[in-house]
Amino acid sequence: MTIAYGLRDRYCGEVDETCVGMNISVCGWVSRIRDHGEHLVFLDLRDHTGQIQCVVDKNINIRSEYVLKISGFVSYRPEENYNDKIPTGRFELKDCEIEILNTAEALPFSLNSKANIDEALRLKYRFLDIRSERMQYNLRLRHNVIQAIRESMSSLDFLEVDTPLLWMPTPEGAREFLVPSRLQKGHFYSLPQSPQIAKQLLMVGGMDRYFQIAKCLRDEDLRADRQFEFTQLDLEASFVGQDQIIEIVSKVISDLFLKILSVSVGPIESISWIQAMLTYGTDKPDLRIPITITDLTALFTSTKVNALRGSSVQAMLLKNVASLGRAKLDEFVAIAKRLGGKGLLWLRVVNDEQGLNFDSPVSKFLEDDDRQAFLKGLDPNEGDLILVVSDEPLLACQILHAVKTYAISEFLIKEEVSKTDYRFLWVTDFPMFESVDENGNAVAAHHPFTMPNEDDLQLMDSNPLKVRSSAYDLVLNGWELGSGSVRIHKREIQEKVFNALGLTDQEAESKFGFMLNAFRYGAPPHAGFGLGIDRLIAIVANESSIREVIAFPKSQSGIDLMTMSPTMVDDRTVKELGLSVLDKDKSETK
Ligand code: AMO
Repeated sequence: MTIAYGLRDRYCGEVDETCVGMNISVCGWVSRIRDHGEHLVFLDLRDHTGQIQCVVDKNINIRSEYVLKISGFVSYRPEENYNDKIPTGRFELKDCEIEILNTAEALPFSLNSKANIDEALRLKYRFLDIRSERMQYNLRLRHNVIQAIRESMSSLDFLEVDTPLLWMPTPEGAREFLVPSRLQKGHFYSLPQSPQIAKQLLMVGGMDRYFQIAKCLRDEDLRADRQFEFTQLDLEASFVGQDQIIEIVSKVISDLFLKILSVSVGPIESISWIQAMLTYGTDKPDLRIPITITDLTALFTSTKVNALRGSSVQAMLLKNVASLGRAKLDEFVAIAKRLGGKGLLWLRVVNDEQGLNFDSPVSKFLEDDDRQAFLKGLDPNEGDLILVVSDEPLLACQILHAVKTYAISEFLIKEEVSKTDYRFLWVTDFPMFESVDENGNAVAAHHPFTMPNEDDLQLMDSNPLKVRSSAYDLVLNGWELGSGSVRIHKREIQEKVFNALGLTDQEAESKFGFMLNAFRYGAPPHAGFGLGIDRLIAIVANESSIREVIAFPKSQSGIDLMTMSPTMVDDRTVKELGLSVLDKDKSETK
């Protein structure tokens, strides 16, 4: 039973055989008007549930998107007018009485058009775009996904706790959005990049299991999978480690896919970071694409071909594309060089008097052992293309991944990748630090609260890049869906990590003193996870950008095209906040 009918007796999409013969009222927007003989027109009235055909007087002055209340008798349409594509396609409202609740000007774009409408126009008129079937579906799906997640988390004894938006900087690797304080002039709140610190303090507070559907804010370059504001399923639990968090998140995900898509996810495979990098050249592989990297180093130890004498030989086989033109092959080589490699070697697999052979810029230098090595290592067929990068292993594999990504976007196996095949993967044992900066300080790969692998603690000073962490990612079809880690809960280890990151004791104290302090008073071992809900919903909705599943997203250049925010504020407000705008002329251009 719904209590929301208001002016109507039924929603448009609910009209069915139980209503036949009844006089009912429906409310909604005029979706389409079509001629029906001399005196009558068919009018499709649409609301959030669907549409119903109404037969109305031609002389009535109504246009598309007018808001109407229509009362009429529900009847079966003549059989030849049945429309099997919509649930109400066998019914219509007749002898209609129409009340115009509001008029509408001509819309800047048609909501019924199947053509691609310019996204900037859609975002400028988002309130209209939201009336479209696509956005109605996506936002309702979003609600259902979040609702299902909330239910799952509650059933697993997680408690939802709100954490502050006006907060202090959270080190998640992006720039912060700052909010000036009016009362403490010259001081700023930071909007949280995630509730990371707050949730760890909740563990110190004995909450045991926390979750939140949390707004996170990061000032970073926007892309199809990134917005300034996004939503995470943020969770943290005490007295658990990596295995339990992986089990919990896997359960939430499989319950969700079963409930929303009737898809059984099954046990999710797990792979170490280094294995992922060496097999796929990326830590977010798309398992739907069956192209992997093969390490041929051992087969080329005594080759005389210079291009195969780097510190390792990594190869990838692309099936049936040997006929690819030189321009594309040259682009592969250019990609390798842009990424800092020495180059890339390609070999077309041909069949000549010697049997399977290779057409390549190095053909004439290839000896029989080299030929045998490619045949043994890759088992190619005539018409295949072999790509080889002989370089330091991680770099070589990253180059091959970049070439694969380019090849897929340009010409390869696009149509074979099913959007409804959901291939999850857990990636574990990430490195603790991703690089060392120009001052010799390590740069955290995840965030600085991640627990280093205990076996690697002694490498922290001598060889930080070799230290593995207890961090894990969940990957789905090539998207990083979420990240988490076991946290440091001991003050000494946290101080050691801050030091490795280049923070002096005083700096660590001034930035994170409250947290180090909290660790003095019995912080339990704890671990957690952050799952990107917008990314998850985009994949479930079969959309390629998260903007399609967010009601009011920013454009690629960070502007809300409807409100045109960010906006300038008047001098008085700026002054009241103790600020002054330096480059006002520049800031006026958008
Ligand atoms: P991380 O920074 O990896 O981890 O973020 C977790 C997940 O959030 C999503 N995400 C984004 N989605 C849209 N737009 C963005 N700008 C954006 N940035 C991140 C991704 C990502 O995998 N505090 C840790 C989690 C933890 O350790 O518990 C964190 O935020 O799906």
